[in-house]
Amino acid sequence: MPSETFSVEFIQERFLQAGQSHVFAFWDQLSASQQKELLNQAQSIDLKALKYLLDAQSKAGSVHAPGAFSPDALAPAPYIALPVLEQGHQDWAEAVRVGEGLLDAGKVAVLTVAGGQGTRLGFDGPKGAFPITPVRQKPIFQLFAEKIRAQAIRYGQPIHWFIMTSVLNHDSTKQFFRDHNNFGLAANRIHFFTQGEMPAVSFDDKILMESPGKIAMSPDGHGGVFRALAQSKALSWMQAEGLDLISLFQVDNPLVKVLDPAFIGFHHIHGSEMSSKMVPKKNPDEKVGLFCLKSDKLSIVEYSDVPQPMQQLRDSDGKLTFRAGNIAVHLLNRTFAERMALQGHLPFHYARKKVSYIDVSGTLLKPLEPNAIKFEQFIFDALPLAKNAIVVEASREDEFSPVKNAVGSDSPETSKQAQSNLFRRWLNAAGESMLKDLNALEVSPLCADTQDAFIDYWQKSSNRPPLKGDIYLE
Ligand code: UD1
Repeated sequence: MPSETFSVEFIQERFLQAGQSHVFAFWDQLSASQQKELLNQAQSIDLKALKYLLDAQSKAGSVHAPGAFSPDALAPAPYIALPVLEQGHQDWAEAVRVGEGLLDAGKVAVLTVAGGQGTRLGFDGPKGAFPITPVRQKPIFQLFAEKIRAQAIRYGQPIHWFIMTSVLNHDSTKQFFRDHNNFGLAANRIHFFTQGEMPAVSFDDKILMESPGKIAMSPDGHGGVFRALAQSKALSWMQAEGLDLISLFQVDNPLVKVLDPAFIGFHHIHGSEMSSKMVPKKNPDEKVGLFCLKSDKLSIVEYSDVPQPMQQLRDSDGKLTFRAGNIAVHLLNRTFAERMALQGHLPFHYARKKVSYIDVSGTLLKPLEPNAIKFEQFIFDALPLAKNAIVVEASREDEFSPVKNAVGSDSPETSKQAQSNLFRRWLNAAGESMLKDLNALEVSPLCADTQDAFIDYWQKSSNRPPLKGDIYLE
């Protein structure tokens, strides 16, 4: 974003030169404050970069920026598998030991990307405010806050939580935390920062106006996190606090381990700058990004971009050849995030969307079909730029049950069931096998946030409830 302030005439001239003079078509009818707002928006747009994106799009005739995707030279990505039978236990135990050392030293910050609009879920508010636990119906943000509090107690270190919002939900997200006293976290441990925006553009390359004084802008994708971290000074703050690692995840997965010692340990042992978690895909059609080697570089290719025949390929043991599904959990070195902020240049992906806009007469039109291009960067496009990037397997049942849709797969219903099932497995592991009268089970992270912690709690508990109906353990 330019730091200088230019004159109105200068900015209007730049828009005229770029073929976007209509942005100022209603200038004379705007109030002084509307004019100021429009100028601020206009100044935030890098017209040269926008022109480059639009030229590339018309040349490619597709929805991909140059270099964003080519199906050539794709190979399945290697990953560190979960331990099975006799294999892998030592490596995992060593990774846990190393990861716990870093957590004991307070080196790891937590970061949630929560700037999306959650359109598919159809929830009117920040997705983190959505009630998601199986018994208490705690909102997702509360669940994460309690997981963070549990880890802070375990490692005896304050844990800093960075939350990326967008202009669309920044105020409502902050208000939600204020209304709930930050869910028991100290205010100085929670750091909100806002991602950037990009203008929506019509198919004939015109910036769309949402109203006479307002450009139709939308969040620049979670890949905007690097720029936003730098611009908000979060990265320099982390450096001053000695936070070297960032544990990053999306707001939509209630099962996520906010800090995972084994993952942190593997990241450190391999000297990785950016690490990721995978789960094997359920079936060839599951809608998750795929870890691949693209010209030998670790990359994630969105499910929609992997050619169908490739998605169906199987190894001789029957497993999908391209099976490493992205659950959007990453570890990043802070120094890598700094480098990406300075020189990352992640590609923009193009999405065809419906965007309401005003026509030349100022009338608001609400299209029924996609009419505009939105530009988004994806965080995982940083993977090929990271040194020694690794992928580590996670157990789907323990760690991945996202809330994407209002009903059906990846919905609140499936996610609540997955949470309850996890806690039932913990009960089993604690020696309880008579669970037929038990309905939903919820264990507060402040009671136990791992199976081992639960077994310990259960064995010491003198006041165990009868295992029937819905149970909440605190
Ligand atoms: C995403 C991944 C996909 C992965 C799946 C796992 C992308 C592009 N795809 O798919 O590879 O398998 O999750 O669940 O990420 N967000 C922002 N700012 C934005 C846009 C999104 O913070 O501008 C956040 C959202 O709040 C949400 C997350 O990013 O937490 C996911 O975004 P979404 O677009 O819903 O990705 P998916 O299609 O679900």
